[in-house]
Amino acid sequence: MAILVEHISQLLTMAGSDIPRSGVEKDALGLLRDGAVLVDGRTIVAAGPRERVLDHALAARAERLSAGHRVVTPGFVDAHTHPVFAAPRLDDFEARLSGDDYRSIAARGGGILQTVRGVRGASEADLAADLRRRAFEFLAAGSTTIEAKSGYGLDLDNELKILRAIKTAAERGPLEIVATLLGAHAVPPELAGRKDDYLARVCEEMIPRAAAQGLARFVDAFCDDGYFTPADLERVAEAGAKAGLGLKAHVEQLSRTGGLAAAVRRGAVSVDHLDHATPQDFAALAGGRTVACLVPGSNYFLAKPYPPARALLDAGASVALATDFNPGTCPCLDMRLILSISCTQMRLSPAEALVAATINGAHAAGLGGTHGSLEPGKRADLVCHDAEDYRELAYWFGSPRTHWTMKSGKVVYRAP
Ligand code: NIG
Ligand code: FE
Repeated sequence: MAILVEHISQLLTMAGSDIPRSGVEKDALGLLRDGAVLVDGRTIVAAGPRERVLDHALAARAERLSAGHRVVTPGFVDAHTHPVFAAPRLDDFEARLSGDDYRSIAARGGGILQTVRGVRGASEADLAADLRRRAFEFLAAGSTTIEAKSGYGLDLDNELKILRAIKTAAERGPLEIVATLLGAHAVPPELAGRKDDYLARVCEEMIPRAAAQGLARFVDAFCDDGYFTPADLERVAEAGAKAGLGLKAHVEQLSRTGGLAAAVRRGAVSVDHLDHATPQDFAALAGGRTVACLVPGSNYFLAKPYPPARALLDAGASVALATDFNPGTCPCLDMRLILSISCTQMRLSPAEALVAATINGAHAAGLGGTHGSLEPGKRADLVCHDAEDYRELAYWFGSPRTHWTMKSGKVVYRAP
């Protein structure tokens, strides 16, 4: 059944080139007043001025869906999340508020390793059920696709358990989930001091097994002081490439290690965090295919300085925005809050932030050819926002403003 979405105050198509958007395209919204979108099955067949879309052969027999003179955008593509965990980390949170920091908490066995204990103790069915509940929250917040990392198992069985939980939740839908194996997130306690042994297991067991079972599309590594080095990241990238998996990477977050340059050399789809990136790093990204995926919700939550978003954009890098949803550094899955933080704290314009949260998010998840913009042939993932002007999406914060969410041609969430 075809659906015609009409009565749209502002339609943001994000129409443009098929590479990550940067330079003159960094804020190109493809904005139309009184636009319409025609959907057939799970695919967009036309998007443009309403009068023109009405000329399409399918339009006459399409079911009509009114946006009620609201803004319609592509669904957000949240290209960096860690959504499979058993419990929040409230003790870490409280300890940080009284002066402790992320590293010292990690050093005494809190942080990532605390979540690892929880995940190892949880059943696959419970992890999948929790993720499914969270999936509906993502959809209600306007995200129609997310990337989801493992990384809280840190041994073969538990990493695969997390990836299977992701697969189960993804198959049940309707949230689309791209899985990433983040075996190199931390060295597990049973191999403390034996990082190379652990890395060998990641590269020789986890990556080939996850790939052979169709459980992951990307590999990732936490390249930082006290975690993994750029050389480790290259090993992970190489094992991933051998198994047919792409690369994403946590780099230059707590310190500058040179991981960004290594990941770019290895053809990463995204380099993420970048709090400590330098002009040399901006130059490595300028005009290239690797997207700078910024996750300022974690800076907000850890009360750390924000990544150099303006300098990256001005240097010609393509920038995506993501939540980094996880129990340690960003317990927020709402991309609209990320838009707000990006504008107020990193000085992005609302248009730059929206490009970063949609089409560039899609590129950072390896989905730029099919997702992230409203163009014929692309996935019918649309959000109708309770707003008349797109700038409102970054302006109001702290209250839900999704009117409805459409995933693959079906309305999967409606505001109460
Ligand atoms: O992206 N930096 C590494 N990993 C996560 C945090 C994981 C955690 O603290 O549980 C991040 O911020
Ligand atoms: Fe992360």
